[in-house]
Amino acid sequence: MSDTTSNTVTTQSMFLTVNGVQYPVTIDPGRNLLSVLRTEIGLTGTKEGCDDCECGACMVLLDGQPINSCSYLAAQTQGREITTIEGIAPSPDEMDPLQANILEAGGVQCGFCTPGMILSASALLERNPHPSKEEVQIGLSGNLCRCTGYARIVDAVHRTAEQTSDGSTNE
Ligand code: FES
Ligand code: FES
Repeated sequence: MSDTTSNTVTTQSMFLTVNGVQYPVTIDPGRNLLSVLRTEIGLTGTKEGCDDCECGACMVLLDGQPINSCSYLAAQTQGREITTIEGIAPSPDEMDPLQANILEAGGVQCGFCTPGMILSASALLERNPHPSKEEVQIGLSGNLCRCTGYARIVDAVHRTAEQTSDGSTNE
Protein backbone atom coordinates (compact mmCIF):
# COMPACT_ATOMS: atom_id res chain seq x y z
CA MET A 1 0.00 0.00 0.00
CA SER A 2 1.40 3.46 -0.84
CA ASP A 3 0.30 6.84 0.45
CA THR A 4 0.09 10.02 -1.63
CA THR A 5 -0.34 13.35 0.15
CA SER A 6 -1.07 16.66 -1.58
CA ASN A 7 -2.02 19.57 0.65
CA THR A 8 -4.71 18.12 2.90
CA VAL A 9 -5.77 15.18 0.73
CA THR A 10 -4.20 11.78 1.41
CA THR A 11 -4.91 8.79 -0.78
CA GLN A 12 -3.81 5.20 -0.60
CA SER A 13 -3.00 2.96 -3.54
CA MET A 14 -3.83 -0.65 -2.83
CA PHE A 15 -5.31 -3.81 -4.25
CA LEU A 16 -8.67 -5.22 -3.30
CA THR A 17 -9.23 -8.90 -4.00
CA VAL A 18 -12.87 -9.30 -4.93
CA ASN A 19 -14.34 -12.58 -6.17
CA GLY A 20 -10.82 -13.84 -6.87
CA VAL A 21 -9.79 -10.82 -8.96
CA GLN A 22 -7.27 -8.20 -7.84
CA TYR A 23 -8.40 -4.61 -8.43
CA PRO A 24 -5.96 -1.70 -8.06
CA VAL A 25 -7.61 1.31 -6.40
CA THR A 26 -6.40 4.68 -5.16
CA ILE A 27 -8.73 5.86 -2.46
CA ASP A 28 -9.20 8.11 0.53
CA PRO A 29 -8.34 5.83 3.47
CA GLY A 30 -11.56 6.87 5.21
CA ARG A 31 -13.81 5.42 2.53
CA ASN A 32 -15.98 2.48 3.35
CA LEU A 33 -15.81 -0.77 1.45
CA LEU A 34 -19.36 -0.41 0.10
CA SER A 35 -18.56 2.84 -1.65
CA VAL A 36 -15.33 1.49 -3.16
CA LEU A 37 -16.99 -1.69 -4.40
CA ARG A 38 -19.79 0.20 -6.08
CA THR A 39 -18.04 3.28 -7.47
CA GLU A 40 -14.39 2.30 -8.00
CA ILE A 41 -14.82 -1.35 -8.97
CA GLY A 42 -18.31 -1.14 -10.47
CA LEU A 43 -19.83 -4.04 -8.56
CA THR A 44 -23.25 -2.60 -7.82
CA GLY A 45 -24.91 -5.81 -6.60
CA THR A 46 -23.99 -4.78 -3.06
CA LYS A 47 -26.68 -2.33 -1.95
CA GLU A 48 -26.69 0.72 0.27
CA GLY A 49 -29.65 0.81 2.63
CA CYS A 50 -29.31 2.39 6.04
CA ASP A 51 -25.57 3.18 5.80
CA ASP A 52 -25.54 2.58 9.56
CA CYS A 53 -24.92 -1.13 10.14
CA GLU A 54 -28.61 -1.87 10.65
CA CYS A 55 -30.10 -3.44 7.51
CA GLY A 56 -27.59 -5.88 5.99
CA ALA A 57 -28.22 -4.72 2.41
CA CYS A 58 -24.51 -4.00 2.06
CA MET A 59 -23.37 -7.39 3.32
CA VAL A 60 -20.33 -9.04 1.73
CA LEU A 61 -18.07 -11.83 2.88
CA LEU A 62 -14.58 -11.00 4.13
CA ASP A 63 -12.47 -14.13 4.35
CA GLY A 64 -15.79 -16.00 4.39
CA GLN A 65 -17.31 -14.00 7.25
CA PRO A 66 -20.29 -11.70 6.65
CA ILE A 67 -19.64 -8.02 7.29
CA ASN A 68 -21.62 -4.85 6.69
CA SER A 69 -19.50 -3.14 4.07
CA CYS A 70 -21.02 0.27 4.87
CA SER A 71 -19.25 0.17 8.20
CA TYR A 72 -15.92 -1.33 7.17
CA LEU A 73 -12.97 0.62 5.82
CA ALA A 74 -11.86 -0.54 2.40
CA ALA A 75 -8.25 0.03 3.48
CA GLN A 76 -8.63 -2.70 6.10
CA THR A 77 -9.34 -5.33 3.47
CA GLN A 78 -5.94 -5.26 1.77
CA GLY A 79 -4.66 -8.83 1.40
CA ARG A 80 -8.01 -10.36 2.31
CA GLU A 81 -10.64 -12.13 0.19
CA ILE A 82 -13.87 -10.26 -0.45
CA THR A 83 -16.88 -12.05 -1.90
CA THR A 84 -19.81 -10.08 -3.27
CA ILE A 85 -23.07 -11.29 -4.76
CA GLU A 86 -21.42 -11.19 -8.20
CA GLY A 87 -19.06 -13.94 -7.02
CA ILE A 88 -21.62 -16.34 -5.58
CA ALA A 89 -22.79 -18.09 -8.74
CA PRO A 90 -20.58 -20.92 -10.04
CA SER A 91 -20.67 -19.48 -13.58
CA PRO A 92 -22.37 -16.63 -15.47
CA ASP A 93 -24.96 -19.11 -16.77
CA GLU A 94 -25.71 -20.86 -13.49
CA MET A 95 -27.22 -19.69 -10.24
CA ASP A 96 -26.02 -20.72 -6.81
CA PRO A 97 -28.62 -23.07 -5.21
CA LEU A 98 -29.47 -20.35 -2.69
CA GLN A 99 -30.23 -17.91 -5.50
CA ALA A 100 -32.33 -20.47 -7.37
CA ASN A 101 -34.30 -21.57 -4.32
CA ILE A 102 -35.01 -18.06 -3.01
CA LEU A 103 -36.16 -17.01 -6.45
CA GLU A 104 -38.35 -20.09 -6.89
CA ALA A 105 -39.87 -19.70 -3.42
CA GLY A 106 -41.00 -16.13 -4.16
CA GLY A 107 -38.47 -14.73 -1.70
CA VAL A 108 -37.54 -11.90 -4.06
CA GLN A 109 -39.90 -8.97 -4.43
CA CYS A 110 -38.12 -5.63 -4.81
CA GLY A 111 -34.85 -7.53 -4.51
CA PHE A 112 -33.04 -4.87 -2.54
CA CYS A 113 -32.30 -7.14 0.40
CA THR A 114 -31.56 -10.20 -1.72
CA PRO A 115 -27.78 -9.90 -2.28
CA GLY A 116 -27.07 -9.39 1.42
CA MET A 117 -29.55 -12.09 2.37
CA ILE A 118 -27.87 -14.61 0.07
CA LEU A 119 -24.38 -13.82 1.34
CA SER A 120 -25.57 -14.10 4.92
CA ALA A 121 -27.25 -17.43 4.16
CA SER A 122 -24.16 -18.69 2.36
CA ALA A 123 -21.99 -17.96 5.40
CA LEU A 124 -24.58 -19.62 7.65
CA LEU A 125 -24.59 -22.83 5.61
CA GLU A 126 -20.81 -22.82 5.54
CA ARG A 127 -20.57 -22.81 9.35
CA ASN A 128 -23.72 -24.86 9.93
CA PRO A 129 -24.66 -27.10 6.98
CA HIS A 130 -27.70 -28.54 8.81
CA PRO A 131 -29.53 -25.58 10.36
CA SER A 132 -33.02 -25.80 11.78
CA LYS A 133 -35.51 -23.18 10.58
CA GLU A 134 -35.00 -21.32 13.84
CA GLU A 135 -31.26 -21.33 13.25
CA VAL A 136 -31.85 -19.96 9.74
CA GLN A 137 -34.01 -17.18 11.22
CA ILE A 138 -31.28 -16.32 13.70
CA GLY A 139 -28.61 -16.53 11.01
CA LEU A 140 -30.50 -14.03 8.85
CA SER A 141 -31.45 -11.71 11.69
CA GLY A 142 -28.97 -9.07 10.53
CA ASN A 143 -30.72 -8.78 7.16
CA LEU A 144 -33.90 -6.73 6.98
CA CYS A 145 -36.56 -7.30 4.31
CA ARG A 146 -39.48 -4.91 4.05
CA CYS A 147 -41.34 -6.92 1.38
CA THR A 148 -41.57 -10.65 1.95
CA GLY A 149 -42.22 -11.27 5.63
CA TYR A 150 -39.14 -13.53 5.68
CA ALA A 151 -40.93 -16.92 5.70
CA ARG A 152 -40.27 -17.72 2.03
CA ILE A 153 -36.64 -16.77 2.35
CA VAL A 154 -36.18 -18.88 5.49
CA ASP A 155 -37.91 -21.83 3.82
CA ALA A 156 -35.70 -21.50 0.75
CA VAL A 157 -32.50 -21.41 2.78
CA HIS A 158 -33.65 -24.42 4.79
CA ARG A 159 -34.51 -26.26 1.58
CA THR A 160 -31.09 -25.48 0.16
CA ALA A 161 -29.49 -27.01 3.24
CA GLU A 162 -31.60 -30.13 2.80
CA GLN A 163 -30.65 -30.43 -0.86
CA THR A 164 -26.95 -30.00 -0.27
CA SER A 165 -26.66 -32.02 2.95
CA ASP A 166 -26.85 -35.71 3.69
CA GLY A 167 -30.48 -35.37 4.74
CA SER A 168 -29.84 -34.91 8.44
CA THR A 169 -31.17 -31.35 8.50
CA ASN A 170 -32.99 -30.39 11.69
CA GLU A 171 -36.65 -29.30 11.57
S1 FES B 1 -26.34 -0.25 4.37
FE1 FES B 1 -24.93 -1.31 5.58
S2 FES B 1 -26.12 -2.25 7.13
FE2 FES B 1 -27.53 -1.03 6.01
S1 FES C 1 -37.52 -8.23 -1.28
FE1 FES C 1 -37.76 -6.09 -0.95
S2 FES C 1 -36.58 -5.70 0.85
FE2 FES C 1 -36.55 -7.87 0.64
